[in-house]
Amino acid sequence: MAQVLEIADLKKLARRRVPKMFFDYADSGSWTEGTYRANESDFEKIKFRQRVAVDMTNRTLASQMVGQDISMPVAIAPTGLTGMQHADGEILAAQACEEAGVPFTLSTMSVCSIEAVVEKTTKPFWFQLYVMQDKDFAGRLIDRAKAAGCSALVLTLDLQILGQRHKDLRNGLSTPPKFTPHHIWQMATRPRWCLGMLGTKNRSFGNIVGHAKGVKDLSSLSSWTAEQFDPKLSWDDVAWIKERWGGKLILKGILDPEDAVMSLKTGADAIIVSNHGGRQLDGAISSIEALPEIVEAVGDKIEVHMDGGIRSGQDVLKALALGAKGTYIGRPFLYGLGAMGKAGVAKSIDIIRNEMDITMALCGKRDIKDVDRSILR
Ligand SMILES: Cc1cc2nc3c(=O)[nH]c(=O)nc-3n(C[C@H](O)[C@H](O)[C@H](O)COP(=O)(O)O)c2cc1C
Repeated sequence: MAQVLEIADLKKLARRRVPKMFFDYADSGSWTEGTYRANESDFEKIKFRQRVAVDMTNRTLASQMVGQDISMPVAIAPTGLTGMQHADGEILAAQACEEAGVPFTLSTMSVCSIEAVVEKTTKPFWFQLYVMQDKDFAGRLIDRAKAAGCSALVLTLDLQILGQRHKDLRNGLSTPPKFTPHHIWQMATRPRWCLGMLGTKNRSFGNIVGHAKGVKDLSSLSSWTAEQFDPKLSWDDVAWIKERWGGKLILKGILDPEDAVMSLKTGADAIIVSNHGGRQLDGAISSIEALPEIVEAVGDKIEVHMDGGIRSGQDVLKALALGAKGTYIGRPFLYGLGAMGKAGVAKSIDIIRNEMDITMALCGKRDIKDVDRSILR
């Protein structure tokens, strides 16, 4: 491919370079994938106001999320199995983020462990927590994130049970990869990916294997999740997690105004309006559709972030205009990683930054902090 100009170009490249089962793992939603598609397509319905003859010099995208200075209000969303899109994926993505001045969120279900990422980075990253039935393990994960100097904890609330993703079941997705003839074929046709994997020891769930009781390897993601994730997780759990963590806390997976109001009582610092990238409750509304009602329900009592379907800097601006203080990208950075490793993650961030900057200017604004509903029709 001669030029990479937009996130869709990175997706095309990733499809060619990442074994099918892992590319599909990223590019999938649950059941009909209707919510996954709506996350993207609902952005298209929102239109900007084009403004002219306004001074467009000296623009800035610099902002803050949960009190931290960032170069633009776009963080990397936590994604499981990132190290299967590209060898050492979490380390490479975290490095690209620190160079770009945006937060990187490491998933509980990452391939590279918290400690492996700390070792290869110089700035604090964020950690995303899934609460397991084994509360001791969850507590120890929090302690490990603290010891690593993580500067925010993202507590995911929308995955107590796993939404069914047909592609993963059809592909027989497992970690570490199984070596059936079908899987060997998928990997053999991606020699660059294989070489990378041969050169790293990070090939399983680094935060879990060897740390959770009785877990030596994870043969199947979905059955393990079904056994380990806590289906009884409740608002009360947020209290002990907040206390044990003691730092900035972000609640992820809020899609309903009533839950947004509940989250106020927890004393969390921020919520993420999210449907897990359309991977959990298929048939739920898109994140961008949910955002305005939630902003209205909580006012400025808590910081509101959003994720889901952002594929351009224009989408980020639309989310900010509708009241989000910060946003996250999942697939865009995963496609960048699969396409070109660290350079691809950096590219995905650059593409979004550039699109945001130009769009903001053409809407007549110079400072991202001044972006509000007035930029929309
Ligand atoms: C491949 C993949 C894995 C994910 N794994 C996690 C995870 O481990 N923890 C979590 O809280 N969210 C997870 N998510 C959801 C993302 O954090 C985020 O909500 C979603 O990707 C945003 O939508 P987008 O991909 O359209 O940007 C995952 C998403 C994808 C695509």
